[in-house]
Amino acid sequence: MAETNFTPRVFSGVKPSGGITLGNYLGAFKRWVSMQDEAYENTYCVVDLHAITVWQDPDALRHATRETTAALLASGIDPARSTLFNQSQVPAHAELGWIFNCVARVGWMNRMTQFKDKAGKNAEKVSLGLYGYPALMAADILVHHATHVPVGEDQKQHVELTRDIAAKFNHDYKVDFFPIAEPVIEGPGTRVMNLRDGSKKMSKSGESDMERINMTDDADLIAKKFKKARTDPEPLPETLEALDGRAEARNLVDIYAGLSDTTPEAVIAEYAGAGWGRFKPALADLAVAKLAPISSEMSRLMDDPGEIDRILAAGAEKAEAVAQPILEKTYDIVGLVRGR
Ligand code: AMP
Ligand code: TRP
Repeated sequence: MAETNFTPRVFSGVKPSGGITLGNYLGAFKRWVSMQDEAYENTYCVVDLHAITVWQDPDALRHATRETTAALLASGIDPARSTLFNQSQVPAHAELGWIFNCVARVGWMNRMTQFKDKAGKNAEKVSLGLYGYPALMAADILVHHATHVPVGEDQKQHVELTRDIAAKFNHDYKVDFFPIAEPVIEGPGTRVMNLRDGSKKMSKSGESDMERINMTDDADLIAKKFKKARTDPEPLPETLEALDGRAEARNLVDIYAGLSDTTPEAVIAEYAGAGWGRFKPALADLAVAKLAPISSEMSRLMDDPGEIDRILAAGAEKAEAVAQPILEKTYDIVGLVRGR
């Protein structure tokens, strides 16, 4: 396969569009951190250009970009071992995004479920950027020649589109230039659900704050949110299969497994027969134990935004050193004259 010719390189991104949730942490950040210990070059990006596909207040966007960076650092992303930057500081991303707007087909975009969900009945009123979003995401990945993309389950279709764009580019220009990147979707936390409705994913932008855990929530709030989390009247069963059809119960078991680095099977083995009065406080204690050190490190980092900006700027320089030559080569392949 084509990807064997490429350096194993991880790329992933997170939008600075509000607070960071437990879904981001369990579905993405934890895996990003552990990949630093594996045989990859790692590049992690705060995708501010993706954030503005829906309206962002400029001051709130600046704050969210720094806070998201602080969350990544506090979770264990090490700028000495990984490249950490914000997307808009490396123009090659947006430039390759344009080329991919000319490779991706309208029919492919029309199949993107995230666009359909976000646009809803309002598809005429949303930005053109929201529609083109996945082509920019493909550019993020491919301008770094990334081979592996660790994401939550909701991003799987976008990574598949990235593969289609790479394959079409390679085919149309008769080259073997872009890798066919693999999604990495592993572990119990790849689909953390809304605490109030187990059929919806936990997101930054849901209507009620009670439906999500934010990385900045304090111990009391975390305990309250789990206590009020929707469940059913049954205790935890003896087997994982018996949780089928109990989406909210399954979600809390998965969250427990993600936070304690174990499997849902092991959680069920430990808590078989337990009622919510026992399980929910245990879950809240575990969440507080895991999240409190991260949130206090985040607030320490946020006391010095200048330092965060310096980390992002240094990361952008490293990212540009990889991305710019790949962009130049792409222009060459496409036939764009570059006389300077
Ligand atoms: P976003 O906040 O949409 O930019 O997402 C950043 C990363 O977090 C992506 O890899 C998402 O798939 C992941 N993610 C976001 N929400 C969840 C969730 N509820 N469960 C699992 N992963 C998530
Ligand atoms: N679309 C991703 C999300 O909403 C964020 C993202 C942008 C991304 N570019 C990326 C993820 C490249 C992985 C690789 O979560």
